[in-house]
Amino acid sequence: PKSPANNLLLFGATGDLAQRMLLPSLFGLDGDGLLPPALRIIGTARSDLDKASFRAAAAASLERYIDADRRTPELVERFLGRLDYVQVDVSEPSQFSRIGAALGSTDDSLAIFLSTAPSLFRPTIEGLASAGLTGETVRMALEKPLGTDLATSREINDAVAAAFPEDRTFRIDHYLGKETVQNLLALRFGNSLFEPLWNSTGIEHVQITVSETVGLEGRAGYYETSGALRDMVQNHMLQLLALVAMEPPSAFQAGAVRDEKVKVLRSLRPITRETVLAETVTGQYKEGAVGGAPVPGYLDELGRPSDTETFVAVKAHVDNWRWKGVPFYLRTGKRLPTRRSEIFIQFKGVPHSIFAARGATVRPNKLLISLQPEENIRLLLMTKQPGLDREGIRLREVPLDLGMANAFADTRRRIAYERLILDLLEGDPTLFVRRDEVEAQWEWIDGIRDGWAANAMVPKSYGAGTWGPSAAIALTERDGVSWYE
Ligand code: BG6
Repeated sequence: PKSPANNLLLFGATGDLAQRMLLPSLFGLDGDGLLPPALRIIGTARSDLDKASFRAAAAASLERYIDADRRTPELVERFLGRLDYVQVDVSEPSQFSRIGAALGSTDDSLAIFLSTAPSLFRPTIEGLASAGLTGETVRMALEKPLGTDLATSREINDAVAAAFPEDRTFRIDHYLGKETVQNLLALRFGNSLFEPLWNSTGIEHVQITVSETVGLEGRAGYYETSGALRDMVQNHMLQLLALVAMEPPSAFQAGAVRDEKVKVLRSLRPITRETVLAETVTGQYKEGAVGGAPVPGYLDELGRPSDTETFVAVKAHVDNWRWKGVPFYLRTGKRLPTRRSEIFIQFKGVPHSIFAARGATVRPNKLLISLQPEENIRLLLMTKQPGLDREGIRLREVPLDLGMANAFADTRRRIAYERLILDLLEGDPTLFVRRDEVEAQWEWIDGIRDGWAANAMVPKSYGAGTWGPSAAIALTERDGVSWYE
């Protein structure tokens, strides 16, 4: 194992992600004794703060995001004691020397986390290089969005590569830090039961749904440059798809896992100008009600006209031997009825039903892997309903439930970033996205966006609190498939 970093330099330390996720994650790791004992966390941002006021802001965010029983005064004090702050305007190269001064010795290993707007990545990296902060013991983590298309993503990757080789570059997709996402690998490759069926002979189709109840959340500036396809499909959903579809890697190790994922991403059948109308649906929410409360429409929140999609459904194909003819239906959107992230796998039905003569229906088996709101895995099986039916036999679909919440009741649910920050500090890139993956993802997404533009496709409106435009239902119904509810 590589030596853990003794310093974490956090750019964008006053930002929303840092306050809401990163500092609470670091606190969680600290509380469990998982941080390197000497780790110092140095926040930087443009704001005129000092160590004391940064610590006060961090204390406030812990109060807000960490349960009171995990926030003992000793733990909080120890954690805050790790924090320092350096004011840096990254457009001023001379200011980077302040970081070196705060770090003291530059021999100590250092992890850097860029949680800033991507337009600041290049100047930040150049500033770090000129201040001698890109040496061999330095690792660099980057938060999304890594570009808005393939070309801009390449620019970012090139700027990073000028100072950091790929094995020290950690691209974050926070979905990979989620427990159930890693559990998907355990399920697939820690059991012999599924693998023989995990292909076009055994599986009818796959659905991946990431539905959210929130709307724009004051992120207009970002979301208007993104939309649902780039915000969710390009990264999180394609990573989920890759993990479902990949070949067994030879080891749970960075090289092996990412080699297999990228092969899947490169096998995605391009969606073209000719196929885009049949294979994608976009939507934008109008006013409606979510969870019983009335909410405004996207354009009302935005205050101007826009064709940005807040919902997208895609029928994807992985063109290789294993997945020939198996559709992967993806859908994601804002202001949908519930917050749910799940992977649904429908197996092939039985070849012949022996129960048909007695009036019973046999449904195909299904596997439901839920990431949110609860982590769980359920296998839907046909069973006989108890009873002495004169007329025949009744079959019922019953879940074989992994009951993960109960099985692991005494383990704390961690923030996805806890896993990722720990891996960054320890130098393990397995759960980070490699350059070739990001670029393969963008290439496929660019094809879809080109198709939308060429067909002048605009999002159809859907009421907030519904499952998107009716065309999204038609997308699967045409194939005789229903979205799993
Ligand atoms: C982010 C997107 O990457 O993921 C957000 O930018 C989205 O728009 C979020 O809300 C969803 O993450 P999670 O972990 O809440 O499913």
